[in-house]
Order: sequence, then structure tokens, then C-alpha cells
Amino acid sequence: MTIREKYYIINMYGNFKGRSGLLNILVSASVLSADMLNLEREIRRLESSGTDMLHFDVMDGSFVNNITFGLPILQQIRHATEMTLDVHLMINFPLKYIDRFAEAGADIITFHAEAGSDIAETIRAIRDAGKKASVSVRPGTPVDCILPFLPELDMVLIMTVEPGFGGQAFIPETLDKIAAVRKEADRLGLDLHIEVDGGINSETAGAVKAAGADVLVSGSYLFNADDMCDTVTIIKEVN
Ligand code: DX5
Ligand code: ZN
Repeated sequence: MTIREKYYIINMYGNFKGRSGLLNILVSASVLSADMLNLEREIRRLESSGTDMLHFDVMDGSFVNNITFGLPILQQIRHATEMTLDVHLMINFPLKYIDRFAEAGADIITFHAEAGSDIAETIRAIRDAGKKASVSVRPGTPVDCILPFLPELDMVLIMTVEPGFGGQAFIPETLDKIAAVRKEADRLGLDLHIEVDGGINSETAGAVKAAGADVLVSGSYLFNADDMCDTVTIIKEVN
């Protein structure tokens, strides 16, 4: 996205102008882009950089065309850090695994609306396990299917790339969806987090915040940066 497009978008969502100044912006680091052979060192780097959460992408090779990591690694990370563990399940039939991810140490569990489990039942399972509940939609899925559940949710995750891989380009059309969810949450007076995931960098962070997002996942941009601390500050403060 060019700077010009970005400002056009910020203007378009004029209602949300200044929201990023009001909301406390959080950065969730996607460990998919971390140096996996030195994960502990990467976690320490995140802890000292002002990163708020650790984003853990679970892929099953079926819901998405990629396979990552799962329960044993999450358990080990849980023992290694006090950071909030933000688990993003890109798996089919997530309901089946909620209790196990909760036991393994997740703090927030996000599942996909398209993944084949009943949405209300899955949210209930997450809350019954004492965890924060979040639901996600792919870029092509309209948000209408999740709006009825907002009062039951702590967070909504709007995918800003097609789930499956890090390092992809941000899809600008997803900004409308962020704005629609924020509008509905405001109408209902809800204190809802809106997370965005995919293609977040200094060019796109301002636009997603202007549209109403307050939790920004960053993978390749954060881990490839020379200075992680500065990069977290840029993501939080750029307009
Ligand atoms: C993609 C994952 C993302 C990914 C983001 O399916 O859900 O969390 O790691 O990576 P970047 O920030 O590189 O787009
Ligand atoms: Zn993710």
C-alpha cells in the first residue's frame, strides 16, 4: 500500500480517527518468524522489547496448507515465560482441542469461524476453561457471521492475509471488516479487542489502527528488524 492509499483509507474511516490515541495498542509477536533453534533467546528478546503478547500459530495442514507446531512446544513456552500467550488455531474442528490448548498454557484462544465447529459452543468451551475467547475470519469471509457473538467474545481476529504463511502482503480490503466490527462493538458498548494478523509493518499499522484495531500481530517485520524495541514502538505509535 502506498502512503497515499493509506491516508485515503484513514480519511475514509474518519470516525475512528484518533482511536489509536485512545486505545492502548498492543503488539503480539508471531513466533512463526522466530529463530526456532534459539527460541528461548527469542522469547527473552521479546520480553525486553516491549512486546505485549506472544502469538502462537497452530496449523494442521488441513484448514490451511501448512503445518507448524502444537501442544508440546506451547507447554514448554508456558514454562519459560510469563508473557500472555495468544494462541491462533488454524485447525479444523477446533472444539476438540480447546481443553488441551487451555491446559498447555494458552491465555487467549482464537479459532476460525470457518473451521467446522459450532461457534457458540467453542466460545463456551474456551470460557469454561477460564481463558479469553476470540474468533477469527479469513479475508474472504464476511464478518456478519461473527457479529452475533461479540458480547460473548474478548477479542475478534481479522485476518489481513490468507492464513497459512508469514511474510505475505497486507490485503487492504480487510480494513472495511475491522471498521464494521469496531462499529458494532461500539454500538453495543463492548470493550472488545480487535486483533489483526498478516502483513503488519510501518506502512500498514496506521491504517488498521485508524479502522479500529488495537492488537497488532507482527511476524516477519518484527523478527527481521535490526532493533526489536524500536520496531515495537513504531508499530504502536505510527499513524
Ligand atoms: C499467518 C499467521 C500470522 C503470520 C504473520 O497465517 O497467522 O500470524 O505469522 O506473519 P507476518 O507478520 O509476517 O505477516
Ligand atoms: Zn496468526
